[in-house]
Amino acid sequence: MTAALTPDRRRFLTAGAAVLGAAASAQLWLPATARAAETPLPDGVFTLGIASGDPLPDGIVLWTRLAPDPLGGGGMPDAVFSVDWEIAEDERFRKTVRRGTTEARPEYGHSVHVDVRGLRPDRPYWYRFRAGGQLSPTGRTRTAPHPHRKGGSLRVALASCQNWQHGYFTPYADMLAQDPDFVLFVGDYIYESKPSAAAVRRHEGSDEPYTLVQYRNRYAQYRTDPDLAAMHANTPWVVTFDDHEVDNDWAGEIPQDPDKQSHDAFVARLTAAFQAYYEHMPVRATAIPNGPHIQMYRRLEFGRLARLNVLDTRQFRTDQATTQDGAESPSMTMLGAQQKQWLLDGLHDSPARWNLIASQIMMAETDLLLGEGKLWYYDAWDGYQAERNALLEEFAGIRNPVVLSGDRHLTMISDLKEDFADPDSDVVGAEFVGTSISSNGDQDQAAFHAQWDPLKADNPHWKVIDAHRGYHLFDIDRDGIDAQVRIVDTVVKPQATASTLARLRVESDEPGVQVV
Ligand SMILES: [Fe+2]
Repeated sequence: MTAALTPDRRRFLTAGAAVLGAAASAQLWLPATARAAETPLPDGVFTLGIASGDPLPDGIVLWTRLAPDPLGGGGMPDAVFSVDWEIAEDERFRKTVRRGTTEARPEYGHSVHVDVRGLRPDRPYWYRFRAGGQLSPTGRTRTAPHPHRKGGSLRVALASCQNWQHGYFTPYADMLAQDPDFVLFVGDYIYESKPSAAAVRRHEGSDEPYTLVQYRNRYAQYRTDPDLAAMHANTPWVVTFDDHEVDNDWAGEIPQDPDKQSHDAFVARLTAAFQAYYEHMPVRATAIPNGPHIQMYRRLEFGRLARLNVLDTRQFRTDQATTQDGAESPSMTMLGAQQKQWLLDGLHDSPARWNLIASQIMMAETDLLLGEGKLWYYDAWDGYQAERNALLEEFAGIRNPVVLSGDRHLTMISDLKEDFADPDSDVVGAEFVGTSISSNGDQDQAAFHAQWDPLKADNPHWKVIDAHRGYHLFDIDRDGIDAQVRIVDTVVKPQATASTLARLRVESDEPGVQVV
């Protein structure tokens, strides 16, 4: 550390103490770990780029990972290396405002997480790392607005579901041009599927990842997508995971196929998957996993304009129902008691105009049965009827709840009804299910509409449904949210043309969403 010992620096040291403590205890059982001074640094350590995330009014997380052989376990010696970092108010680093030195440790895959504090609210910053004589690319990031700020505007990009094998991540090139204040990524950052010869791009390795090294290689491969890397380098991200960061449709400590993975084997898999997730994401030390557990649900504040509640709908849920009656059982929980109370408290005591809820999976109803009766997807909130319905009843007393979801690989934009069983019940909020970056590839739109349009009569709360790849872009101010569904014409080629498929508006204090 070379910064002066200001109050801000003391705060940073306190925040970093937990990381150092965890690292120190890990080192006890790693006697072979050498110090950097004894071991030369390999060439080309910044292959995975840089990232930033979880903006605060005075802080940001800066990330990198030293990996000269990114798809081969990283390629770093089993030693601790010093990494210098600096953050400036200008692109040329003439006005550096904070700098320091941190450690890249082998037990964290030589990843680096710096929780910088002492910054000014609502402004851009530039940052970079130096290890040995090697300089990282320069990144750009942005802090959150001052906590008391009531006005202003916020531009948010909602993304999810980037399957390497289904296509190139072309929507990020357009997202970069739209220059959002932050990217909200709601899950399926990687897919755990085996390599497929028929894929647009083939997954690395020879099987699904199970071990820490295998998950590291999979994340490293995804980070080599140039559009994804550029999006991370230019904008802070707020991330959470869904199922494919571990195993399709997992629930708590239950894998997709319990016949194929014992409980012990799946707990080991969760441990490896969460460790690799932490190592590759720009998140705070609160997200350092504790074995098969990781703390991801959290809140971020954007002045008095928006409060963002980021949910974890995987770790604490009961196993999926298999019947309609099962989905209605009061014993089913999506959030677990503790997270549910945390969410309700955060909604009811919110000082914010907009109460955003990042939910990995869709909250509005999808009735798949034409005509009389209902048929639901049991992995989504529809499979957890009692808890979902209780939450929607609470929404009636919350200011401007807006749910931002993924998982479905479709754009589905809906009014949220207080009771989906009663067509006359009140609209209590809005939901945007933000299609996918590449998952499902280039779909046949005519075939999609032939299959899904007939279901609109059974789902009158749907405002827009669509099967293009892309993301949603939100311009939020005190009066309303202007939303755009941004789509690309292809993900099977590295370059694409982007356009706006639909524009929507959510008026403040008028629940629901309107097509403009
Ligand atoms: Fe997905």
